[in-house]
Amino acid sequence: MPIDGQPVLCVVACGGRPAADLPAFVAQMQTAGWHVCVVATPSALKFMDCDALATLTGHAVRYDYKQPDEPDVLPQPEAFIIAPATFNTINKMAAGASDTLALGMLNEAIGMGLPIIAVPTPNVALARHPAFQASVKALRSWGVDLMFDPDRWPLPTPNMGPPAAGLFPWADLVHAATALTEATTKA
Ligand SMILES: Cc1cc2nc3c(=O)[nH]c(=O)nc-3n(C[C@H](O)[C@H](O)[C@H](O)COP(=O)(O)O)c2cc1C
Repeated sequence: MPIDGQPVLCVVACGGRPAADLPAFVAQMQTAGWHVCVVATPSALKFMDCDALATLTGHAVRYDYKQPDEPDVLPQPEAFIIAPATFNTINKMAAGASDTLALGMLNEAIGMGLPIIAVPTPNVALARHPAFQASVKALRSWGVDLMFDPDRWPLPTPNMGPPAAGLFPWADLVHAATALTEATTKA
């Protein structure tokens, strides 16, 4: 549901190094006209500055299901971006698992036909795993926009360390998100 006329974008962070770089991306999405909130998997938290993101978005970074009697503090999103999307979360999403708040929201989004752009960041070995390849195929068939093409967006090698974050295609994600902005504001 739009807030102050702005569509709501939920940025989902999974447990990989690019999660540390979310504040700059969130600021770009805000400039593009989105009201942004951030949801993290528990594994993502160790990479993130949640206080900085809360200040930037005006919403606490949520990572766990709320208690039944707690108010829902996040606005209802119109679209989702998963950045980064781990091997683990991509496979669980394709299997319909909902054991994190992030997965629960993403599974509902698939059921509601909401737009989702995900940037998977398996390493080159995990990218060849048959379960991952099947997950990519399933998610694409359900309409999830996966920015996964190792020829275009090279993947880290196992144990690459901090330089892995430099491979993340932030500029192309901003470009893809701009198309999403146009589609959502016209809808
Ligand atoms: C330093 C570090 C970097 C990691 N980077 C990635 C990554 O880029 N991609 C990935 O699929 N998993 C990565 N992992 C492993 C995930 O964090 C792990 O599989 C975790 O269970 C993912 O949980 P989530 O999908 O709920 O976020 C990394 C782990 C560590 C400790």
